[in-house]
Amino acid sequence: MCGIIAYTGNQNAAPILTASLRQLEYRGYDSSGIALVSRGKLKTYRAAGKLAQLENRLPNKISGKIGIGHTRWATHGEPNDQNAHPHTDTQGRISIIHNGIIENATELKRKLEAQGCVYTSETDSETIAHLISHSIISNPKMAFLDVVRLALKQLQGTYGLVVMNADAPETLIAARSGSPVIIGIGKDEMFVASDSAALSRYTREVVHLDDGEIASINAKGFEVTTLDAISMSKQSVMVDSSQLNYELGNYDNYMFKEIHEQPESIRRTLSGRLDHRFNTAHLGGLNMSPRDLMNVRRVCILGCGSAYYAGISGADMIETLARLPSKAEPAAEFRYRNPVIEPDTLYIVVSQSGETFDTLAALREIKRKGSHVLGVNNVVGSTIAREVDGGIYMHAGTEVSVASTKAYTSMLTCFALLALHLGRVRDLSPQQGEQLVNALEALPEKIKVALEQNQQIKQLAKKYHHINSAFFIGRTNAYPIALEGAQKLKEISYIHAEAYPASELKHGPLALISPQTPTIIILPDNDLLGKSISSLQEIRARKGPVIALTNAQNEDIHSLADDVMYTPNTHPILHPIIMGIPLQLFAYHCAIAMDRDIDQPRNLAKSVTVE
Ligand code: AGP
Repeated sequence: MCGIIAYTGNQNAAPILTASLRQLEYRGYDSSGIALVSRGKLKTYRAAGKLAQLENRLPNKISGKIGIGHTRWATHGEPNDQNAHPHTDTQGRISIIHNGIIENATELKRKLEAQGCVYTSETDSETIAHLISHSIISNPKMAFLDVVRLALKQLQGTYGLVVMNADAPETLIAARSGSPVIIGIGKDEMFVASDSAALSRYTREVVHLDDGEIASINAKGFEVTTLDAISMSKQSVMVDSSQLNYELGNYDNYMFKEIHEQPESIRRTLSGRLDHRFNTAHLGGLNMSPRDLMNVRRVCILGCGSAYYAGISGADMIETLARLPSKAEPAAEFRYRNPVIEPDTLYIVVSQSGETFDTLAALREIKRKGSHVLGVNNVVGSTIAREVDGGIYMHAGTEVSVASTKAYTSMLTCFALLALHLGRVRDLSPQQGEQLVNALEALPEKIKVALEQNQQIKQLAKKYHHINSAFFIGRTNAYPIALEGAQKLKEISYIHAEAYPASELKHGPLALISPQTPTIIILPDNDLLGKSISSLQEIRARKGPVIALTNAQNEDIHSLADDVMYTPNTHPILHPIIMGIPLQLFAYHCAIAMDRDIDQPRNLAKSVTVE
């Protein structure tokens, strides 16, 4: 989604803004821009495309010690120079950057245009600049902060924004309603950003704004109030430095790096959490006693995209080990269907970024109705992590590539730990617990072995990358593996891919099987292997090419499938973790063979902070 950065201090703002935008680049965007106040005038530079386009457009020297910068992910209006932020009012005195969606922008625009405001973009965001400007004209004696408050109260929708005023060139105003905003504290300089990554070179000390808060910031400090002018006391926190210094090193792109980090990221997720004495998992952050856990009757997991798919696997793990009815649902669908919230259901929201709008909204809906919510999160201090009642941090480390890999497998590892913990509070025997504890301990090394197939999978991708469409199928706990495999392939290679439960094939999709449409069939070594091999045969009978992904030593698979990808065997609960690895590599090598932008696939963003 959009990235926000702002600076006020003693240094030239332009190089700080562009360097910070570079740090936000991984979030994905289609245009960027900066604005500064220089000798009492607003100077704005904007360009469609990558940051390099903007940098090429900047003059060698731009003065100005206060400025704002933005990377845009288009919602209203195509990605071009005019629609790029910052946006300015008609008089050229107010400049704003905005992340979010203003839902009543059309209605406000009609009124503002009738009052003489001239729009130069198709965005909803431009309205904010005109509205503030109009409030200044209508309330000439009012302080700038109060004028901005007045304007913001008229907005419906979501925003994380920064306002700069050429007539008050020492002050930045930042406000939050639904989209993340943090204030970075430096020495005689201050920053505003949407993401701590943008501040990595300058400061680790940050303050998170909460919804409904507005901050007035100058080089010496800041003051936070609500939109109703109630003063708020805010504590700063230090951002974990490992979150800030994440570099590409010798890798060509972050996705490949992150795929290969999985033995280590999973080790971190497990670290200190395996308990050999009681054959269970230690999860200190749940903030729930064994008695609370005993009272749980159902589990409901909510997330978006790959996090939702991880949730499907998580629900299966919990139902299998704890014998609690468990389900996962896309967070956005859940929140809009007026769900029944039950006091004895354990709700879990799962999100790598901790900022995904729909997941956050589902969390707030459940809390509003009075229930307890746990989080499975990666980013410490993210909005979701701050709002849940307890949870499990993934500790996967920073994930930069839009396509989630190491965060996804760490989510699954967290769910396996939670399933073990819930199971051991209930009926899972010490022996069963011990088997899983041992399997989890051995998992990082097994992931290493799975990664050793990189070269073979690269060859496979060379054979198949020209396809237009692919099916991914699996039964029961292999179905979410198929969903995630299809997701990875379409996300970064743009090959159309669909996942089905293998049992559903003959109820429709079989009509599309042809020599041009390969099927990737997930065949874990479990009781259903025989049934899954029957599905494989049905596809072969229709001349569909088949790539089998298995951890079973089974001759039939070899003779029936065109190609086979293997993973080491493990505890059946952990199949989704290890079997996801070859599918990540397959998607990656197909995308490389097709010369795709691996880390920033078209139209997508790392953190989806709008509805
Ligand atoms: C994963 O590859 C995707 N980029 C996407 O589906 C992602 O998982 C989803 O947007 C949820 O993000 P979150 O984990 O940060 O909430």
